[in-house]
Amino acid sequence: MTHKLQPGITTACFLLIGLLTVAHAVTLEVKNGNNTCIKAELSANFTIKYNTSTNGTATVQVTLPDSAVVGNESSCVGSGDSQKLQASFGAGHSLSLVFAKDGKLYRVSNLSLSYNLSDNNTFPNASGSGVVTQNTNTSGILAQLNTTYRCNSNSPFSLGGSGVTVILSKVHMEAYMTSANMSTNESICSADLPVTTTVATTTVAPTTLPPSPTPPSKPDTGTYNITTGNATCLLAKMGLQLNVTYDSKSQNKTVQGIVNMQPNKTSYSGSCENDTAILLLKEELTNLSFTFKLNATTKKYHLSAVNVSARWPDMKAPFSTSNSSLMEMPGTLGHSYMCSPEQTVSVVDTFSLNTFQVQVQPFGVQNNKFGSAEECPMQKDNMLVPIIVGACLAGLVLIVLVAYLIGRKRSRAGYQTI
Ligand SMILES: *[C@@H]1O[C@H](CO)[C@@H](O)[C@H](O)[C@H]1NC(C)=O
Ligand SMILES: *[C@@H]1O[C@H](CO)[C@@H](O)[C@H](O)[C@H]1NC(C)=O
Ligand SMILES: *[C@@H]1O[C@H](CO)[C@@H](O)[C@H](O)[C@H]1NC(C)=O
Ligand SMILES: *[C@@H]1O[C@H](CO)[C@@H](O)[C@H](O)[C@H]1NC(C)=O
Ligand SMILES: *[C@@H]1O[C@H](CO)[C@@H](O)[C@H](O)[C@H]1NC(C)=O
Ligand SMILES: *[C@@H]1O[C@H](CO)[C@@H](O)[C@H](O)[C@H]1NC(C)=O
Ligand SMILES: *[C@@H]1O[C@H](CO)[C@@H](O)[C@H](O)[C@H]1NC(C)=O
Ligand SMILES: *[C@@H]1O[C@H](CO)[C@@H](O)[C@H](O)[C@H]1NC(C)=O
Ligand SMILES: *[C@@H]1O[C@H](CO)[C@@H](O)[C@H](O)[C@H]1NC(C)=O
Ligand SMILES: *[C@@H]1O[C@H](CO)[C@@H](O)[C@H](O)[C@H]1NC(C)=O
Ligand SMILES: *[C@@H]1O[C@H](CO)[C@@H](O)[C@H](O)[C@H]1NC(C)=O
Ligand SMILES: *[C@@H]1O[C@H](CO)[C@@H](O)[C@H](O)[C@H]1NC(C)=O
Repeated sequence: MTHKLQPGITTACFLLIGLLTVAHAVTLEVKNGNNTCIKAELSANFTIKYNTSTNGTATVQVTLPDSAVVGNESSCVGSGDSQKLQASFGAGHSLSLVFAKDGKLYRVSNLSLSYNLSDNNTFPNASGSGVVTQNTNTSGILAQLNTTYRCNSNSPFSLGGSGVTVILSKVHMEAYMTSANMSTNESICSADLPVTTTVATTTVAPTTLPPSPTPPSKPDTGTYNITTGNATCLLAKMGLQLNVTYDSKSQNKTVQGIVNMQPNKTSYSGSCENDTAILLLKEELTNLSFTFKLNATTKKYHLSAVNVSARWPDMKAPFSTSNSSLMEMPGTLGHSYMCSPEQTVSVVDTFSLNTFQVQVQPFGVQNNKFGSAEECPMQKDNMLVPIIVGACLAGLVLIVLVAYLIGRKRSRAGYQTI
């Protein structure tokens, strides 16, 4: 399996940890004939509280063992397009994930744990017996179709409200697969978005973000600087407008939400490494991260990845997407990238970013100041007009001056004849 060492140091680190401890992740595959529909690699821990015969309760910790197998309730063709992965283990225990498909997304619509209280080794002195199932239908696990869902972070899910917790980690899975291998395009969970050295935090008031029928005004320009030690390593100044395609609750259809990032309600953080710099912006209901890459050989940098996650009140389901193969905002080490006109960074079909008044320098910042600016091509074109106008004006001034001098010489000559 090929992994893309993208969009962040944190994920890269987790990936490394994941590779080193790969023995703990269980790999499962659900097939229909020869066609694979679900592939999952994951680690899971369960905390289960149960009643004991001594009139008390006990809590046990269970780990999904490597010996877990695909259970016979697994299916590629469930009711209403659903697919199911059942991981069976031990004496009749199982973890089940039911997937549902929704437009361009798939999600886990039912996450459940079945455990067999009759298994005295796992549940000593249990007062009950037989198999008990607890589930949640709000797992929040969702990904774009044809992408692999990745979540290396520990994600806890509370089931049934009776003291059963499932903690998933190192999850790498895809449902509704169209080929035998997991897609190299990934949907990364927001918990994996890198949060490191927090620089500034403003208290944020809850905001409601209804979809605007008309695009809002130009966004305010925010200024963000990330420091390592006491030196600035990343500087950015920009106005940001999000363009998210999502299923609206209020309108019961797919809409385009155009929302400005409000710098005065945005907290930010980030990190700088030799060849990777990350800027993470957080608004109450929106997370946005930018990953810049530096090619040490060519001394050129560019914006290589954007991750976004949003849970706006009007959304039927939380929105999260990313693209790690962008080639935006190109610049040279030691210089800043500048683009004043509005530009659009197309991240995926359902998400684009409109940027305004951009100046960024993700690498080689000296003395906490922007290096000389390299302007975006569009701006160079715009600069042509003033240059031409300027040249014309200069020419005109020259002509007037020459005419004046000639005129003065003539009139002087005229006086001399008197
Ligand atoms: C599954 O693959 C095997 C080997 O490639 C082939 O012999 C068999 O016919 C295939 N079965 C189906 C149902 O496609
Ligand atoms: C444990 O017992 C209490 C009271 O007897 C009951 O309300 C509760 O549902 C039981 N819990 C479980 C997990 O069976
Ligand atoms: C169990 O607990 C209940 C209520 O706390 C109590 O009425 C009952 O006597 C207890 N039973 C035993 C066996 O301790
Ligand atoms: C539950 O555990 C008991 C004891 O180990 C076993 O006899 C029984 O078959 C198990 N139930 C299931 C559904 O596997
Ligand atoms: C997923 O891939 C399949 C086969 O390549 C294609 O038919 C389908 O339209 C794709 N779906 C999306 C939402 O991109
Ligand atoms: C969720 O899945 C479990 C186990 O497969 C099942 O018992 C339960 O009824 C399901 N819940 C819903 C709401 O579909
Ligand atoms: C910045 O950090 C360096 C080394 O950590 C230190 O020598 C220097 O005094 C610091 N400068 C300021 C202005 O704090
Ligand atoms: C938002 O994105 C959609 C689809 O990509 C596009 O048609 C629309 O013009 C965009 N709107 C703005 C304000 O950028
Ligand atoms: C939303 O739209 C779908 C299909 O367009 C319809 O079946 C459903 O009843 C609508 N729901 C509401 C709450 O209007
Ligand atoms: C944030 O900025 C907007 C626009 O400049 C302003 O209307 C709003 O009052 C500001 N909010 C806060 C909390 O400062
Ligand atoms: C750096 O750029 C050169 C030339 O475009 C390319 O061959 C090389 O693979 C790049 N290195 C990295 C680490 O991307
Ligand atoms: C990611 O961005 C690249 C470059 O803009 C584009 O070619 C690619 O289609 C995008 N990926 C997705 C999943 O939209």
